[in-house]
Amino acid sequence: MIPLTQMATDVLQTADGAEKTALSRKYAAEWFASREAGAPIEIGTAAPPLRPARPQKPALLDPRDVPRRKPGTPEGRVAMLHAVAHIELNAVDLHWDIIARFGGRVDFPIGFYDDWVKSADEESKHFGLMSDCLANYGAHYGSLDAHAGMWSAAEDTADDILGRLAVVPMVLEARGLDVTPGMIKLFKQAKDTAAVEAMEVIYAEEVHHVSYGSKWFHFLCGRQNLDPTPTFHGLVRKYFHGALKPPFNEEKRAEAGIPPDFYWPLSESAAVR
Ligand SMILES: [Fe+2]
Ligand SMILES: [Fe+2]
Repeated sequence: MIPLTQMATDVLQTADGAEKTALSRKYAAEWFASREAGAPIEIGTAAPPLRPARPQKPALLDPRDVPRRKPGTPEGRVAMLHAVAHIELNAVDLHWDIIARFGGRVDFPIGFYDDWVKSADEESKHFGLMSDCLANYGAHYGSLDAHAGMWSAAEDTADDILGRLAVVPMVLEARGLDVTPGMIKLFKQAKDTAAVEAMEVIYAEEVHHVSYGSKWFHFLCGRQNLDPTPTFHGLVRKYFHGALKPPFNEEKRAEAGIPPDFYWPLSESAAVR
């Protein structure tokens, strides 16, 4: 069995979405089987690519050049599903990247790997769910263009595990908790039950991904004797460009271990930054 960090690198180097997510799920199952058997796969160390392999389509455009479509139309719903599929595929890579890049280099308890392998597995499932929803409209991942630049948070924090945890799960994925209820409402109005059910699965599981971020962020702060709140603010200001956008999903953020004094001081409406 190859080391976990090499498995992670293999996923990152697989371009096709369906192949990437299938490999991701296979490796996740192998990891958890090894844990169950009491003989965990070795972590090792790896040399992951700075950017993951991606399919030829969708074309990745500057966000300003991605056409906007009305959310109340079928075209708008396809665009939304496609955008979420893109986010999910990116998330698969993000979660394996944290393992490939920091695994074996930062000293973590084995539970750290359990959390990120589980997250990567769930993101792979989410990509599949969105692909199925797109198929209901005769579309597929790659049939529209997508946003470029989603990987920049990973590149910026390639050498900074605290920065990575602050920006990826605790800012970007937490933002998902803020916006998903609105999307669910939209698909409910359109009576697209399949999309509603898929988004409800995503919504429930994403809370855990944010909570893993908070858990390991606090763990590392504790080990380094850092005060978590100002440390978080400093890292987000360093690596995340722009203010956080209210309204915040305070309930789900609280459930995920992100208290209001983490995000309000960084928000658009905060007077002092
Ligand atoms: Fe997801
Ligand atoms: Fe996630």
